[in-house]
Amino acid sequence: MPIRVLAPDVVAGISAGEVIERPASVVKELVENALDAGAAGVRVDIEAGGMGLIRVADDGGGMAGAEAALAFRRHATSKLAALDDLGKLSTYGFRGEALAAIAAAADVEMLTRTKGSDEGTRISAVFGEESITGPAGCAKGTEIRVRNLFLRMPARLKFMRSPRAENAAILRVIEPYILARPRVRFVLTVDGEEKLNAIPSAEGSPRIRAVMGDAADCVLPFSSSSSGNSVRGFTEAPGKVHGRGRQWLVVNGRPVEDRGLRHALIASYSGQIPREAWPWAVVFVDVPPDRLDVNVHPAKSEVKFADQRQVYDLIAGAIREAFRTVHTAAPAAKPSSRAGTTPAMSEIPLPLESSEGSPRGGEAFVAQPSPRWSSPSTAGGAVEILGQFHETYIAARLNGNLVLVDQHAAHEKVIFSRLLTHSEGASQQLLIPLTIELSPAEAALAEEYRVELGKLGYEYDGLGGRTVALRGVPAGCGPSADAAAVLRGVLSDAGSGTGATDEPVRKLAASVACHSAVKAGDRLEPREMEALLLELLALEDPGSCPHGRPTMVTWDTGSLARLFKRP
Ligand SMILES: Nc1ncnc2c1ncn2[C@@H]1O[C@H](COP(=O)(O)OP(=O)(O)OP(=O)(O)O)[C@@H](O)[C@H]1O
Ligand SMILES: [Mg+2]
Repeated sequence: MPIRVLAPDVVAGISAGEVIERPASVVKELVENALDAGAAGVRVDIEAGGMGLIRVADDGGGMAGAEAALAFRRHATSKLAALDDLGKLSTYGFRGEALAAIAAAADVEMLTRTKGSDEGTRISAVFGEESITGPAGCAKGTEIRVRNLFLRMPARLKFMRSPRAENAAILRVIEPYILARPRVRFVLTVDGEEKLNAIPSAEGSPRIRAVMGDAADCVLPFSSSSSGNSVRGFTEAPGKVHGRGRQWLVVNGRPVEDRGLRHALIASYSGQIPREAWPWAVVFVDVPPDRLDVNVHPAKSEVKFADQRQVYDLIAGAIREAFRTVHTAAPAAKPSSRAGTTPAMSEIPLPLESSEGSPRGGEAFVAQPSPRWSSPSTAGGAVEILGQFHETYIAARLNGNLVLVDQHAAHEKVIFSRLLTHSEGASQQLLIPLTIELSPAEAALAEEYRVELGKLGYEYDGLGGRTVALRGVPAGCGPSADAAAVLRGVLSDAGSGTGATDEPVRKLAASVACHSAVKAGDRLEPREMEALLLELLALEDPGSCPHGRPTMVTWDTGSLARLFKRP
């Protein structure tokens, strides 16, 4: 095959694809540009999952006509002059690629006006060709409207998910900036409805609440610094971590993904939380700019640390220290500060309750608790519990065989089957409705999946904004789980699913079961183990959990003899 140099429009299309993967990538780039322009407020309006319209308006510095004309060119930037500048960047942008990439992937219209000028500029870029369409009356700042995203890229268009999934991704993209830039107001509307309105506040609780919802009440602050690196943030105390929380990582003001840092976060819990659980956490890391490479990912969503190990250790150390402080502090005491450690954002009320019991648990509120364990039926007399191993497995004798049962998988299967065999909507009413403040993404999902969750027994009413009153929970779950945490875990799973599935109710049931089931690490009484096994064995297919993992392994005397090479 002859080698040829690609035509400029093909090159532009390829690089655009690297920067702009989905509507949320457009939002991210435009929000970053607005923040770089010094905006005090950023408004994002989305229609049809971003495929209809993405509009981002800011009240930042704006652009004069001549600059505005350059903004859509590739490698046109006001933020970087020489390669050396990469080591001391204070802006999100630096490559001069984003607007060019968006213009290559969509039709774009921009209105912009600087503070000093009476008149603004309107520019449109259609098919990557920009044209100044003349002066325009507009507010100070910049507004960019993006339409027909990927219309010219059929391959990309095929990969678009449902508007719901794209809306959720857009919310996720905005959230870390709410944390990283607490003095900037962010408003998001989706199809004309306001989904988010984060008002400016000095760093701290209102902004954390804006992204975490109620989970913000249960986080502990931590902070530490050493050799020019500093970390601070909030995470849940080990006893509070039940469901699947989300984590945000902000490095030198930049929201990034970093598996290693996430691992450092989990490692600080060193086996004190269930395997399936993730804590809610916000981690801010600040390192000297020349010890950080921000230019390692086309969408700027990853960074590389020169001192990776030190930063990881700093995070894990600071979190462990915060846990230690909670364990030793008298109630109402503030966390002690040690040399080099300042409790950041200390206006956050400290949750210092003991780790036992649930802070917003469902148990006390259930009108008529359905049993977590059904009473053992006498028919199943063939089960004899031998014991619990590692608070994870149940060892039992069953019909003369030795079985090891994974307690979480088994309970998950039992609940899953109860949920699907109960008459539709079997709901356990709570005596007092549980008021839960959801995160914006969760609130959107709660609305989206209302019917499906209703079929499983969930009953809740919107109380305006992101608050719901939970009136009923699935009857099959038993009362012991923290109803709010389970619901939030389920919503979080629903949001991270792969778009439309054929059987959303089944999928949600599996998720409810997973979040309500006993976890590895839960100690069980012999009668609880027996009840669980009997209920499991009464099912048609007791051998695998809803996710397809085995619930038990069995050895008969013959296979045990073979294992030990007995004659
Ligand atoms: N909302 C805005 N307000 C003011 N100026 C803007 C705005 N958006 C873009 N600009 C100007 O247009 C230039 C090009 O923007 P673009 O996003 O393409 O590149 P960048 O931000 O410099 O780098 P990157 O590609 O890394 O985002 C910016 O450098 C900035 O000068
Ligand atoms: Mg930019």
